[in-house]
Amino acid sequence: MKLGFIGTGYVGLVSGVGFGNLGFDVTCVDIDERKVEMIKQAHPPIFENGLEEMLKQLIASKKLIATTDTAQAISKSDVIFICTGTPSLVDGSIDLKYIRSASENIGRALRDVNSFKTIVVKSTVVPGTTRDVVLPILEKESGKKAGVDFGVAMNPEFLKEGVAVKDFQDPDRVVLGTEDPKSLEMLKELYNFVNCEILETDTATAEMIKYASNSFLAVKISFVNEIANMSEKMGVDIDLVAKGMGMDSRISPKFLRPGIGYGGSCFPKDVKALKAAAESLGIGAIMLAGSLEVNRNQPLRAVELLQKHLDISGKIIALLGMAFKPETDDMRESRAVPLAEELLRLGAKVRGYDPIAKETAEMSMPKGTEFFDNVEDLLKDADAAILVTEWKEFQSYDPEFFLNHGIKILVDGRRIYNKKTFNAAGIVTEVLGQA
Ligand code: UGA
Repeated sequence: MKLGFIGTGYVGLVSGVGFGNLGFDVTCVDIDERKVEMIKQAHPPIFENGLEEMLKQLIASKKLIATTDTAQAISKSDVIFICTGTPSLVDGSIDLKYIRSASENIGRALRDVNSFKTIVVKSTVVPGTTRDVVLPILEKESGKKAGVDFGVAMNPEFLKEGVAVKDFQDPDRVVLGTEDPKSLEMLKELYNFVNCEILETDTATAEMIKYASNSFLAVKISFVNEIANMSEKMGVDIDLVAKGMGMDSRISPKFLRPGIGYGGSCFPKDVKALKAAAESLGIGAIMLAGSLEVNRNQPLRAVELLQKHLDISGKIIALLGMAFKPETDDMRESRAVPLAEELLRLGAKVRGYDPIAKETAEMSMPKGTEFFDNVEDLLKDADAAILVTEWKEFQSYDPEFFLNHGIKILVDGRRIYNKKTFNAAGIVTEVLGQA
């Protein structure tokens, strides 16, 4: 089987490279010529561990080609994945403009096709989108009948940035949402490399599985953040609380790490979109609203901890890390942004350093933020530091490191430092969630 991927963001490129690596012929399509050129030169437009090496081999062996021409990809491929972005509208609801235009382009290209091809939505979309939006557009533009002349399916993606290649190769589960038996057979053949369970559903159920999974994890993080905030004030050790909770296999220790909140391209957007979709149907989304509220307040908790020891106005505050999590240059919805905004509002001079997210941080951080190329320059003359992203290089810092760089006040927003040891060494240290 030959495969096409429409959209070369995280989902499209990682999946394309992943399937290419398994021996499939892959065509990657993007409307952005710059991205296509970069892929042709074997430079992934996104940073993802292990991706560049794999892409280099696939480009050299011509197993993967990149183009701006959707029709070319459709004519060559048996299965075409729609992997375009699904941004939020101002009210938080999903913006389907890229899904619609990709569907129109694919539909038009299907007009001249005589073989059965399956169009698979891989982008995260609200339940019903594949059946009620994508399918009718494909039928209208192609003049053909879904389920007869071509297939339609939904196959959600569960990749985590930073470990996306590994997640692709060794998934926890695969969900195949289909509307016709032929598409299901094609997708089952495609995924016969996995060792995990394959769940077969209709397309709307597959879409909901993706939203519900991300929303559940977001709620779980906000829940533990709320418990951490209480523990801090109640003199309770949140590490032991999370450990004790996680020992219950029904709860599990995963995604039970308190901090300044969740960011990234998925959790905030997906929770907002599902909430908006539920509300548009007149259904409340109380849990989702609660998670978003906790997440909005969580970065401000770091400011509150700093204010216990410092009048922030006019002070230089150094941010260690800015990416939404380590091992990525992604700044989307990073908690560093609202944190910096609050510090600037209080009159601080904000500066930041991130080992990878340099260019992306410069584009995303609020105006007035100063950027540094290394941690030594970042900390020089700073009045306090806040740990925002738990990069490995920061985890190795001991109290002497900070003292040698003149830092006497430290707030740890990701809980990587030992408050007692640091305080005993002479740095006033606050660790979010620790009494
Ligand atoms: C998330 C999901 O984990 C993936 O399964 C999903 O495929 C992906 O979204 C998507 O929909 O595409 P990702 O956004 O890469 O993946 O990031 P995560 O590793 O899930 O982390 C999200 C945020 O939660 C980060 O800001 C992280 O710092 C925060 N987090 C995570 C916590 O604050 N505490 C935790 O215990 C875990």
